[in-house]
Amino acid sequence: MGKPVDVIQSVRLDDEKDALILLDQTLLPNEKRFLELKEMKDIWDAIYLLKVRGAPAIGIAAAYGAYLGTKGSAAETYQDLYEDFKKVKDYLATSRPTAVNLFWALERMEARFKKEEGNTVSEVKAALKEESELIRAEDEKVCESIGEYALSVLEPGWGILTHCNAGTIATAKYGTALAPIYLGQEQGYDFKVFADETRPLLQGARLTAWELQEAGVDVTLICDNMASIVMKEGKIQAVLVGCDRVAANGDSANKIGTSGVAILAKHYNVPFYVCAPLSTVDLACATGDDIHIELRPSSEITSQWYEKPMAPADVKTYNPAFDVTDNDLITGIITENGIAYAPFTESLPKMFKK
Ligand code: MRU
Repeated sequence: MGKPVDVIQSVRLDDEKDALILLDQTLLPNEKRFLELKEMKDIWDAIYLLKVRGAPAIGIAAAYGAYLGTKGSAAETYQDLYEDFKKVKDYLATSRPTAVNLFWALERMEARFKKEEGNTVSEVKAALKEESELIRAEDEKVCESIGEYALSVLEPGWGILTHCNAGTIATAKYGTALAPIYLGQEQGYDFKVFADETRPLLQGARLTAWELQEAGVDVTLICDNMASIVMKEGKIQAVLVGCDRVAANGDSANKIGTSGVAILAKHYNVPFYVCAPLSTVDLACATGDDIHIELRPSSEITSQWYEKPMAPADVKTYNPAFDVTDNDLITGIITENGIAYAPFTESLPKMFKK
């Protein structure tokens, strides 16, 4: 048996200071700095600039933001407070488009607000605080459950490839795709994890390699274009990835490059699992074509992370932050309520009923 894994809390509320506390993920692995954010503009920027990132962590940050923004309102009536809440909610909702957890968390905060109708302004504010804390606390349990279901399809000693970062810092705790790695580590599974570096923002190199190494997991960093060779060499027995939005038919949007990994996995007959809390499953999206894919600035490809620009000035670029893995490439979608298998239009709704 390994020792219990000590994980970092990357998003939390400091209610006394009226602040959102975030581990600045853009500084990792070189610096572990926590930010204390009080202004809505700073919270919006932190989400847009990926200081907080990963679908569940974005949702938690937005929920805390919605609470803090409303807490600061001087409104004296329920209706006036609602107007202020709506402004904060609508503003935070524009920070990033793909991860449905952002919208899911904000909708949940609004539903709670509406449930409080008739109560005093301070009671409504207290309810919003409670709801935001619940969203965080539930995510922790959800991740642990995803980890347990995922572990049931893995065997000790396996090589596991992952893309981007779906780890503890992307969630309340444990992560989604990395949750079984942490649980396996505690139970002596001795997994060999291969982390794709994940161009262009290097979440695999900077974040996954870092957090797994900190936890004592056997992790090997590879460039994105090395996924094929490690599969061909028989080093990979399963692929586990996180997700930003799952459509009703199982098509799954995740960090750019994920669909290529899924195509390779099919070629080499390696099972490909998407780990997704139900807060990431969007049954209102019929297929992946309905998922809004975020386009990001060209500097992320050409100059960010380099000492000097690594592309000619003004070269045309195309920088989609996510791609959609077609459902027929997915072995299973691992949720907190079990593993959904094809046909996903039938299995995914059942997960919500458990
Ligand atoms: O742009 P990012 O870093 O927010 O993208 C993150 C991912 O694609 C993750 O795999 C996904 O959000 C799941 S995190 C548990």
